[in-house]
Amino acid sequence: MKRSIIGITGATGTIFGWRLMELLRSEGDTEIHLVMSQSAKLTLKMEHDVDPGRLNELAHEVHAPGNIGAAISSGSFFSEGMIVAPCSIKTMSNIASGNTGDLISRAADVILKERRKLVLAVRETPLHAGHLENMMKLTRLGTVIFPPVPAFYNRPKTLQDVVDQSCMRMLDQLGVHLESSPRWGEEGGVPAVGQVIEMDKS
Ligand SMILES: Cc1cc2nc3c(=O)[nH]c(=O)nc-3n(C[C@H](O)[C@H](O)[C@H](O)COP(=O)(O)O)c2cc1C
Repeated sequence: MKRSIIGITGATGTIFGWRLMELLRSEGDTEIHLVMSQSAKLTLKMEHDVDPGRLNELAHEVHAPGNIGAAISSGSFFSEGMIVAPCSIKTMSNIASGNTGDLISRAADVILKERRKLVLAVRETPLHAGHLENMMKLTRLGTVIFPPVPAFYNRPKTLQDVVDQSCMRMLDQLGVHLESSPRWGEEGGVPAVGQVIEMDKS
């Protein structure tokens, strides 16, 4: 089995981390290591009114954000890579400056030093020069800066279509190729699995 690390921070869009884990589960060939920051738990509650425990169930291993002694904080623990989705400006800045006081930034720093794949779904807008400079610095270190910007050429009909398209492209970066959204130049695309976005909940 492959191993991937999913970090979820307190930027808006906690659904991205949630959906990534659902998609990895549907693929079935990846051991998922999850870290959610304290702010992510708050944002998740505000955005979806769900308990973080519901996301924990999708992971094979859940690491506390302050547990700097977790397996994923060591380079000797092998993984294919890490996606932080959504990634707050705070966490992106910590990673860019090597400030590794929490597990998400430590695990990300380890991924970079081991020359593995790091994908940051940075979610903020608009951006100032300091944000852009940090993105540039991280890009030079090999990070993939992946703002979850929606595409429309695939004609999304639901919010889930929008989320799935970004998640599919993020997973492509880890070498996990799913058909959760139509690809340009290809017919159809597999219907979405799971029902994490309850649009008509209200
Ligand atoms: C509802 C909500 C939405 C937020 N959206 C963003 C955002 O889109 N981008 C961002 O950088 N921070 C956002 N924040 C602020 C972060 O949660 C805050 O900076 C936090 O300290 C990030 O910590 P973390 O990176 O450890 O999760 C948001 C906060 C809340 C409560």
